[in-house]
Amino acid sequence: MLITFEGIDGSGKTTQSRRLFEFLKERGVKVHLFREPGGTEAGDKIRELLMSFELDPKTELLLFEASRAELMKVVRPLLERGEVVILDRFTDSTLAYQGYGRGLDLDLIRRLNDLVTGGIKPEVTFLLDLEPSVALKRLKEKTRFDDPKLLERVRDGYREIAKAEPERVFLIDASRSEEEVFSDIVSFLEGKF
Ligand code: TYD
Repeated sequence: MLITFEGIDGSGKTTQSRRLFEFLKERGVKVHLFREPGGTEAGDKIRELLMSFELDPKTELLLFEASRAELMKVVRPLLERGEVVILDRFTDSTLAYQGYGRGLDLDLIRRLNDLVTGGIKPEVTFLLDLEPSVALKRLKEKTRFDDPKLLERVRDGYREIAKAEPERVFLIDASRSEEEVFSDIVSFLEGKF
């Protein structure tokens, strides 16, 4: 089972994905946690590239997809063994940031996503929804995506994705406390483990 966490920078998905990972592990579930970009040796190198240069949006798109292609080599066998994989960001990030945010063609991104994942889809996606102004206040360090207008488009993009696939994407109000958000996530998963 693949579970993904999505949301703009500062929405708290890294904290929540770690909490869910610990929670499931304590219950004896075979669970793995990876973050994108990264998660493999090559992916971490690609992450360094992405974080070190001002890149053309097209270069950015291809590097995120390249990192994902490498990660799938690790994730696919785990899913085939019936284990749980939690991803801190996945294909929706590329649609939201490079598509809705940077304005690259959404259909092209969908095709690239399909190419690198070979059709692997999350069973559930937790979208931590938060106003960019609030998210930016939470961020300690600057990220490459800290322009409020860009983040507004990314957020709207995420909400479009959630609207289009309500059966997969669970939209969570991330302006609340860490405890409240986590308890929503656990209630949603209740009965699945
Ligand atoms: P990171 O420092 O991991 O941020 P976060 O903790 O918010 O995930 O950096 C990842 C950055 O890369 C983040 O700003 C979102 C961006 N990103 C994309 O633009 N497209 C993608 O496909 C992915 C996976 C991430």
